[in-house]
Amino acid sequence: MTSREAIAARVEALRAELRYHNERYYSLDEPEIPDADYDELFRELKALEEAHPELRDASSPTALVSGTPTSNFGSVRHAKPMQSLDNALNDDELVAWVGRCEKGLPDRELTYAYEPKVDGLAMSLTYVNGILTQGATRGDGVTGEDVTANILTIASIPQTLDPRAGVPPQVVEVRGEVYMASVDFAALNVRQAAAQEKTFVNPRNAAAGSLRQKDPKITATRPLNFLAYQLGASEGVEPESSWNPATQSGVLRLLKTAGFEVSAEAGIASSVDELVAACAWFEEHRHTLPYEVDGAVVKLDDLSLHAVLGSTSRAPRWAIAKKFPPEEKQTVLVDIEISVGRTGRVTPFAVLEPVFVGGTTVQMATLHNEDHVAARDVRPGDLVIVRKAGDVIPEVVGPAAGQANRPGRSAPWKFPSVCPSCSTALVRIPGENVTQCPNWDCVAQTVQRIAYFASRAAMDIEGLGEQRVAQLVAAGLVSDVADLYALKNTDFHGIEGMGPVSAAKLVDAIEASRSQSMQRVLVGLGIHEVGPANARVVIRAFPSLQLLLGAESEQLAALDGIGPKTAARVVTFMNDERNVALIERLMKFDVGIAESSTSQLPQTLLGKAVVVTGAVDGFTRQEVEAAVLARGGTSPGSVSKKTFCVVAGASPGASKLSKAETLGLPVLPASAFEYLLATGQLPD
Ligand code: IVH
Repeated sequence: MTSREAIAARVEALRAELRYHNERYYSLDEPEIPDADYDELFRELKALEEAHPELRDASSPTALVSGTPTSNFGSVRHAKPMQSLDNALNDDELVAWVGRCEKGLPDRELTYAYEPKVDGLAMSLTYVNGILTQGATRGDGVTGEDVTANILTIASIPQTLDPRAGVPPQVVEVRGEVYMASVDFAALNVRQAAAQEKTFVNPRNAAAGSLRQKDPKITATRPLNFLAYQLGASEGVEPESSWNPATQSGVLRLLKTAGFEVSAEAGIASSVDELVAACAWFEEHRHTLPYEVDGAVVKLDDLSLHAVLGSTSRAPRWAIAKKFPPEEKQTVLVDIEISVGRTGRVTPFAVLEPVFVGGTTVQMATLHNEDHVAARDVRPGDLVIVRKAGDVIPEVVGPAAGQANRPGRSAPWKFPSVCPSCSTALVRIPGENVTQCPNWDCVAQTVQRIAYFASRAAMDIEGLGEQRVAQLVAAGLVSDVADLYALKNTDFHGIEGMGPVSAAKLVDAIEASRSQSMQRVLVGLGIHEVGPANARVVIRAFPSLQLLLGAESEQLAALDGIGPKTAARVVTFMNDERNVALIERLMKFDVGIAESSTSQLPQTLLGKAVVVTGAVDGFTRQEVEAAVLARGGTSPGSVSKKTFCVVAGASPGASKLSKAETLGLPVLPASAFEYLLATGQLPD
């Protein structure tokens, strides 16, 4: 590989990884890595794209606001896009941002408004003549979800604007953050645990999960709040109106008068030193604020300057988020254990003496992999440094100072040679920092595979968590996900904690999952890198499990966002005879045949590969591909004997045309493209 190719490959890998984590965070509310790690990946990608402009891509995560709208709610197109914020990870970066503002606005005295960056989820509220008419999530920034019914249950959101703020305009949009106060979050988790319901990892997750309930009655029982911080789109605002404030600090005053909660800690700074100090104050007091914060947001106070500085496609230049570094604490490493994941990957983790870090009490932390443990030489009994960035997975950074020569220190920890679940010899994958249990029938893997299939990210089968699955597997009732669909109420005799009522409930929930979309089924099969977004793309081209079983990696790799590695993983999975048998049994149970939302257009090109070369009038490159995919076809980048036809637009690729000729394939002019889409036939 040349270094140029290596860079291009790294850029693609980073994009795929970021898309995956975006989905875990925004669509599933189940992030897997700390924000700080995410930020690091994001920056690496941004730096590479800046250094190699030829690799830039309008669909890169650096160019987009993240968050794919999910399908439980209607969609709302934002009148003004809801943007994201760029981050400053330290004071130098904050000072550099100030420098950029000053450079862009020479000879101006700049004042900066600062506010806490509350860790919740962004919300747009629309008021028509002062009355709340709509609540929408940010979604991908352009389109969000309509959560009006749920929003109406939040007491701190005024349903009418207080007239003391002045006569409300015809239309005004108020933006802010829906959040859960830290104390309410803790109490909710206690209640959830007592009711044997899912607990939440952090307040942001709890807020997002509560807001995305299909039933607003459930949302109403959740302690949600709203903190307002911005005005969005408006109509009918007179220039002299109180609803046309000149500054960000004025916006907050106005919103407060209109009946909204605004941050009591917000303020303004007129020098860079004051600003740095204000941000440091937030970091110091982060755990005594009523809500979880992951940084401070700084905006130019004078709103008229926002238009002058403008925005990139993703974030404004007039604002920045000063993020807090992940918090670190020391505690005793009690033991090192290993867990087995659904793909057989084994991961070491630390059992810790409980420690309060990053807003929660931590008792377990990941040690990532064999090399991570070896390089840090952490041993049971050591005092270790634990890091948690206010979100999910805490990690052990390394031993605290002075541990290396500590008398009575235990021997270096050795990675086990056999699987803790099935005793099969573990295998270290050459060239990768991954250790696997190679036994497909390993009970731990089986449990994880089934639990993942049943999880909220996939089939969403209520009452089928990991522990329940482990019981069913141990009792010999299920050994794969298809077995679930053969379960009867009477099968559960003797399963601890399962009476006739819970048995009937579980069977009903499993039965109900049969009508889940194919997208969820595909996600549930647990193919590496196939989350909801990739699944959607794959299904658009292969809208049934049957078709997907026959997919070729070339066809898959030609799909937007599916790289060759993911394509190969899908094909390997679909070619494994155990998976073929499993999928065939699922199909017999009518699982995954529910109509997918993407197949509304007539599937005229089902299973047909159409290669398009050169420009087609009226379509961008992406639209050409999307048009073919939406009709069930595939649009590979190269011509092969499986190609149905080649469409030659303006300036077509010579090699594609000559290959088509050699293979005797039909070549259509661009003017026939629409006919092809509509009929799936070649013109006479
Ligand atoms: S202003 C274009 N102010 O941070 C600027 N955002 O990373 C839009 N957030 O989507 C946002 N506190 O969910 C702003 N005081 C604050 C905020 C805030 C939290 C969130 C918001 C936004 C995200 C961007």
